[in-house]
Amino acid sequence: MILLDGKKTSEAIQSEIAADVAEIKKQGGKAPHLAAILVGQDGGSMTYVNNKVLACERVGFDSTLLHYEDTISEEELLAKIEEINQDENIDGLIVQLPLPKHINGNKVLEVMDYKKDVDGFHPVNVGRMVAGLPAYLPATPYGIMQLLERYNIETKGKHCVVIGRSNIVGTPISILMSKCTIPGECTVTICHRNTVDLAMHTRMADILIVAVGKPGMVTADMVKEGAVVIDVGTTRVPDATRERGWRLRGDVDFDNVAPKCSYITPVPGGVGPLTISMLLKNTLRAAKKEVYG
Ligand code: GUN
Repeated sequence: MILLDGKKTSEAIQSEIAADVAEIKKQGGKAPHLAAILVGQDGGSMTYVNNKVLACERVGFDSTLLHYEDTISEEELLAKIEEINQDENIDGLIVQLPLPKHINGNKVLEVMDYKKDVDGFHPVNVGRMVAGLPAYLPATPYGIMQLLERYNIETKGKHCVVIGRSNIVGTPISILMSKCTIPGECTVTICHRNTVDLAMHTRMADILIVAVGKPGMVTADMVKEGAVVIDVGTTRVPDATRERGWRLRGDVDFDNVAPKCSYITPVPGGVGPLTISMLLKNTLRAAKKEVYG
């Protein structure tokens, strides 16, 4: 069994990005600039956004964090986004999700300039990804593809089973794994809450990708011997032995599943660390106008 080390892979990607930025600056170019919008005081979201801003600093990007109270109206937020759309100094924009209930998340995504949508959530980017055209890929699926690629994991002709169909992970990774690219070329099954006999499907998986948010739901009896298991789950569970009172737990019962696997991602330290690196990569691509000229 080989552990897919997301931390090490993420560090390698960030070093590559930092070297690229240093070269851009040496040539007299400007640093890539990411703007992040955060609404409200959700602890998890604040941590994620702060980590994104810190990562920008590490690789030499400029960043702007716009933090609003959750009383901001939809109209005000949309106006802010329009402003950033017009700001030539800003290459990439993310709006941390989830948003408060009174704000329509789909409207927010659609008003964004898709050329700055480095989360890859705008319908134009989603559509272009489905069509196999150059697009910003969402960070988590992009990170999974990087892990498979950098560990030289054979995917062609394999059966990939995805549990979860979210717009952020399950749906895009199922599309990417089915494409005629490497990694890709898989036969893909998408499972979700209404799947009958989930274990029957998961036991057929050569590659099993789980993005549900139910700690430990994938047990050893659900996994084929020699499978590649990618665990996207990161749920905070109570842990009295930690000072902060919680730890992160994945969707896979790691201790019992890992011995059956050829490769598996740990939680934490698997897919998680890659997401920020792939956001940085998309921002670099935006600054270099690689996707949209
Ligand atoms: N919330 C959970 N994942 C993400 C993400 O990748 N980007 C943004 N903006 N919000 C999220």
